[in-house]
Amino acid sequence: MESCNLSLLIKVLAVISISLTAGLLLDVRDPSDLIFMSGYPELWRKTGLAGAPARAAACILVGVSLLALGWLYRLLFAPLELLRTPDEVGYISEDGRSRAQAANEVRRRRKTGELPPIYPNGWFRVLDSHMLDRGEVKSVTVLGEQVAVFRGQDGKAHVVDAYCPHLGANLAVGGRVVGGCIECPFHGWQFRGEDGKCVHIPYAEKVPEFAKVRRWPSMEINGLILVWFHCDGLEPSWTIPEQEEIARGQWVYRGRTEHFINAHIEEIPENAADIAHLAHLHTPGIVSGVDLRYTNSKTWEFIRHDWKVEWEPEPEPNKHCSQMLVKHALTVFGRHWPILDVNVVARQVGPGVVFLLFDSSFLGRGVIMHSVTPVEPLLQCVSHSIFYQGNIPPLVPKFILRAECIQFERDVMIWNNKKYSSKPVLVKEDSAIQRHRRWYSQFYTENSPRLRYQYDTLDF
Ligand code: FES
Ligand SMILES: [Fe+2]
Repeated sequence: MESCNLSLLIKVLAVISISLTAGLLLDVRDPSDLIFMSGYPELWRKTGLAGAPARAAACILVGVSLLALGWLYRLLFAPLELLRTPDEVGYISEDGRSRAQAANEVRRRRKTGELPPIYPNGWFRVLDSHMLDRGEVKSVTVLGEQVAVFRGQDGKAHVVDAYCPHLGANLAVGGRVVGGCIECPFHGWQFRGEDGKCVHIPYAEKVPEFAKVRRWPSMEINGLILVWFHCDGLEPSWTIPEQEEIARGQWVYRGRTEHFINAHIEEIPENAADIAHLAHLHTPGIVSGVDLRYTNSKTWEFIRHDWKVEWEPEPEPNKHCSQMLVKHALTVFGRHWPILDVNVVARQVGPGVVFLLFDSSFLGRGVIMHSVTPVEPLLQCVSHSIFYQGNIPPLVPKFILRAECIQFERDVMIWNNKKYSSKPVLVKEDSAIQRHRRWYSQFYTENSPRLRYQYDTLDF
């Protein structure tokens, strides 16, 4: 919230400074006016400012211009960071209620329906790689568990249960990385990231064999740190593939968005097989925004997105993958602009990771790494990180990510307020939804956890 206010302030200051500068420069009829005379420029005299006030105004102008330049630099070159709080998007807060109250009410009153198991087996993102420095530890909630994610001095990332087996201190809150181990902040026991084994107890002669913390299988690829979850504790049976262009440095990181969604995890990937919703929810131009009460406004109906979509599971040995093929076209006043045609292959790998591969003759190529990680049974953290051709101006991928985010937030408003329908009333044209459900069910096994109770509030 603070960063939002700060960016608003910077924008206001930039506009003021640009207006002031423009106003002053417009008043210069002779370029020699810009030369300082008698300690201050003649220009100031012409604008009615003289002496100390003129110098003060000049200082303010220079300061504000520097801020404006900083803002412009961030806009053009710095990665986009759009991190939404859990109650920020997709709720209607009327009658003087805050967004947090509205979100809590929706969550408390909503019918959950007959839900599939809450945590599928598979790989889930815990952090982006750039969020964890060497020797750093972070606390993350994933699949209802508290974990400590740390990066050893050798650069390798590890994920272990956050609670120390000794007396339960949280290793991620004040814990210290020592070599490839995490040291507990309470009594200094050290646990090895590789296998979770305790290798040092500062005050004990011998480290018992049974002293170990649970280690989660993890991997780091395409700028993501991921953990493997299997309800029976089985080791990974497949992995997340490497995106070569990222590994080779041809596609570079240009930003990320983060959303928290109040829904069952399966609702989110199911969107790819719900072909009919594209022509309804995602057709209004992105300029008409994200609030579904207003997206069909007449003002903006001259801009439309057209979608052609297919969804198919992949055959063995990639039966844990599926593909959504998207052809996107933009029409303005009914006229198609082929230059802005974008082809997207959304390749889902397992229950929680999607590679959104962009290919456009005009806008270039890149990928959005989309990941869904259950935080709680009905609260999903969705992250989009964009990697794009290094030789394309950063503004292009930042615009693509922003546009994708607008379309995504329309879905968020649906997900946050809907219930899960275990027996939906479908027509023939909806058949991909049922095929998707059958495909996704491979990630549940007999012991997959089910929802046993419902949280009353989100306590935002
Ligand atoms: S609680 Fe961790 S070392 Fe004692
Ligand atoms: Fe959608």
